[in-house]
Order: sequence, then structure tokens, then C-alpha cells
Amino acid sequence: MSARKQSTARSRSHSRGSGQAKRGLWGGRFGDGPTESLRRIGDSLHFDRRIVDQDLRGSAAHARMLGAQGIIPKRDARKIVAELGRMRRELVKGTLVVEGADEDIHSWIERTLTERIGDAGAKLHTARSRNDQVATAFRLWLREETETLDLAIAGLMEALVSQAEEVLGIVVPAYTHLQRGQPTLLSHQLLAYVEMLARDRSRFADQVRRMNECPLGAGATTGVPYPVDRAATATELGFARPTANSMDTVADRDFAAEWLAAASILAVHVSRLAEDVCLWASSEWNLLELGDSVSTGSSIMPQKRNPDGAELARGKAGRVVGHLMALLTTMKGLPLTYDRDLQEDKEGLFDALDTVTACVDVMADTLRMSRFRAESAEDLLHGGHLLATELADFLVGEGIPFRHAHEAVGAVVQVAEGSGLDLSDLTADEIAAIDARFTGCETALDFRAAVDRRDHKGGTATRRVKAATRAWRRRLG
Ligand code: ARG
Repeated sequence: MSARKQSTARSRSHSRGSGQAKRGLWGGRFGDGPTESLRRIGDSLHFDRRIVDQDLRGSAAHARMLGAQGIIPKRDARKIVAELGRMRRELVKGTLVVEGADEDIHSWIERTLTERIGDAGAKLHTARSRNDQVATAFRLWLREETETLDLAIAGLMEALVSQAEEVLGIVVPAYTHLQRGQPTLLSHQLLAYVEMLARDRSRFADQVRRMNECPLGAGATTGVPYPVDRAATATELGFARPTANSMDTVADRDFAAEWLAAASILAVHVSRLAEDVCLWASSEWNLLELGDSVSTGSSIMPQKRNPDGAELARGKAGRVVGHLMALLTTMKGLPLTYDRDLQEDKEGLFDALDTVTACVDVMADTLRMSRFRAESAEDLLHGGHLLATELADFLVGEGIPFRHAHEAVGAVVQVAEGSGLDLSDLTADEIAAIDARFTGCETALDFRAAVDRRDHKGGTATRRVKAATRAWRRRLG
């Protein structure tokens, strides 16, 4: 760039700054307002408006406490609380909209309040900082959104349990290494996902329990020189107690990282369910008939019925895990206490919540609107020598050490494969003709009997799976 161009560029970016108004909350000591570039990177109103209701409630609790403690006149506190309540109602009605050139939602609230009630509004920020304010609103928001997500997960569990009830009679191959392994009830596999989702819910519950302490009173970083009643604001906002250390309070976002970790694990679980659905719906499995409303067609191949919802649920897991990595990377090595970097905590988490909720919901709908085909399950059983383990266990029953039994069945499999047959194509007599130790092995050649022999807690036996299904139905209400 020539020297002239450079100086023009400099003066252009400078003039963008000097023409700007000073900023509401902190402009006092500044001659110039921020440059366009600083505003573009720093302004957060376009996303943190999402926590407006929580910030209004946090502010009201703070104002009420200021009045009760005599830190500001009670009359002013009452005015503030009443006006914040009115703003909340107007936002719900749509007669008030969050918009303007304000830097963030905190500035917007304070400006709007002060425009409406004058000097009383200007007293709201006594004994607090945006650092404890944002930590409070974000925690409140996350606590509430997690309740909604929890309901969505419960909905997916319900859809899985309903299918498990529906298909109790269906035996399918259980896979390991994506190779057919042993027969199992399809319901048993569906309930496996229910267990995973139940742990996901308990992970979120743990996270919320740890997060549920009130930051208000931490101030900018060291606390505030006023006789604040932190227990009162904590109680009013439904927190278990105030946080213990003001510096920790404004510096850490481990609650958000922990939430994203729980969301990532949930997303990974859902992606695995989604992959199973894609396999089941494929022509190769032909096990699941996707409902019209949960499948999509192809623009060129008229016969197609694609599982796009499940594929997207599978794919979007990457994005959720990405947000976890982004936040951890942002936090790593940050000097205590608050740094503006921490503003990066919100957008990723907002997106992770929306994404994971969409994945959970689409999988619940997919399961509700689709039907498993018992006929196809039967076909799947007759390949992959699914009864090999049963035959080995039969020999164990005859007093043969398992390792030798394993070898003997291996030899039978080899013979069957040599004739292009599956173990299930052979009769007990034919197997006994290969190795006389298998005489009387017909009990080992029945898929359902193989399933029902796994009759212990956690096994796939029909009566165990029935009991598990009933137990989940009761728990889900
Ligand atoms: N938007 C900021 C955040 O999310 C609010 C706190 C700003 N604090 C400050 N000292 N600039 O972290």
C-alpha cells in the first residue's frame, strides 16, 4: 500500500470512531466513541438479547435488595422493580422490542429503564457490575433452558419405549464390529438408548446443581463496598446459595463448559441412534419403514425415501462437540479474573442448545412415525451364524470346557460355509454328523430360546426386557 493510501485508510477508520457517540454505560472518560471495527467485534446485543428476561429478573431482585438494605431509597427501588416488570410484560406482548445501538443487553435494559423512570433507573447499577450481572443472567437462562431440553429428551425416551412395547416379539441380530453376533430382542436394543438418555438427563441435572449459585454481589471482581444481602437475591432468583468467591464467580465459565460436555455426549448418543435408524431404513436391512412425514425424496431418483432427519441428527453432533472445544480453548490460559474473551461463552452455547434440541426432537418424531417390519427381522436372522455361541454353550452344558467348545463350533461353521450355508440352515442331526458331541443340540438352534436363556438382570430374555419396558413406562409416566 502506498503511504498516501495508508494514511487515507487510517484517517477513514479514525473518523469512524470520532464521529461516534460515547457509549452509555462507561463513556464518561472517553472523548471519542469506539470505531466501527471495535463495535463490530464487541457488540453483543444481537445475540445476548436472548437472555433479556433473565437479566430483567436478575435486575429486579438486585433492586429490591438494594431498597431493603437501604442502599438506595425504597421508593426508587419500588419504581425500578415495577418498571422492569412492565418491560417484561411488554416484551412478551411485543409492544416493546429489544433493538438499538446499545452495546449489549445490559446497556439496553439500563437505557430503556432510565428513559422511562429517569434518575431512579440510573441507581440500578449501584453495587453491581456487568460481570456479576451477566454471570447471573446466563446461569438463570441455562437453568431454565435445561428444563425444556430435559422434557425433549424425555419425549425421545418415551418414543423409544413405545416402540420397545410395540416390537417386543421381534428378534434381530445384535451386532459387534458391525458383524452379526447373537440374537437379541429389538426392544432390548431400543432400551439401550433409553439408558443412555437417562444418564444424559442426570448429567444435566448434576451440572445445574453445581451451577445453581448466585453470582450477584461479586461485583466486578472483588465484591462490593455496600451492605448487600446476597442470600436474599439468591433466594429470590431460586439459587441454592450465593457463590463463595467473587473472583471465581466472574472469571469462570466451567458451568457452560460442563453443560456443553453433557450436550456433546447427548449429541453423540443421538447420532448413534440416528445411524442405527439409517441402517435399519436401508434396503440392506429393510427393517424400518420410515413414515412419509419423516422421510424426504430425491430430486432425481423417484423411488427414494431418504432418512434426512436422522442423517442430519448424526451430522450435527460434530457442531455441538465443536462448541465445547471452542469454549475450552477460549478459557484456556485466561488470566483471572473477568476478560472480555468470556463473552464468547454465549453464541456457541445458544447454538448447541438449539442444535441438540432439534436432533432430539427429530429422532423422537422419526421413531413415532415409523414402523418396524417383523418379516425382515426374520430374514436378518438367517445369516452370520448367529447361533454359534449357543452351540458352544450347549457343549459347555455337556461338560466340555468353553475353549474346546468354541473350537468345535468353529469347525462346524467352517463346514457350513464350505457348502454356502448358514448354521441356521443345518439340523441338529446334520451338526451331530459333523461332530458327534453335538448330539441333541436342537435346543441350541432356536433364536427365541437363545434370547430367553439370557435371563439375568441386564440380559435380553423376553421376561427381563418386558420388565425393563414396564419399569421405564412407569418412570416416564
Ligand atoms: N457482554 C459481556 C459478556 O458477556 C458482559 C460483561 C461485560 N463486562 C465488561 N467488563 N465489559 O461477558
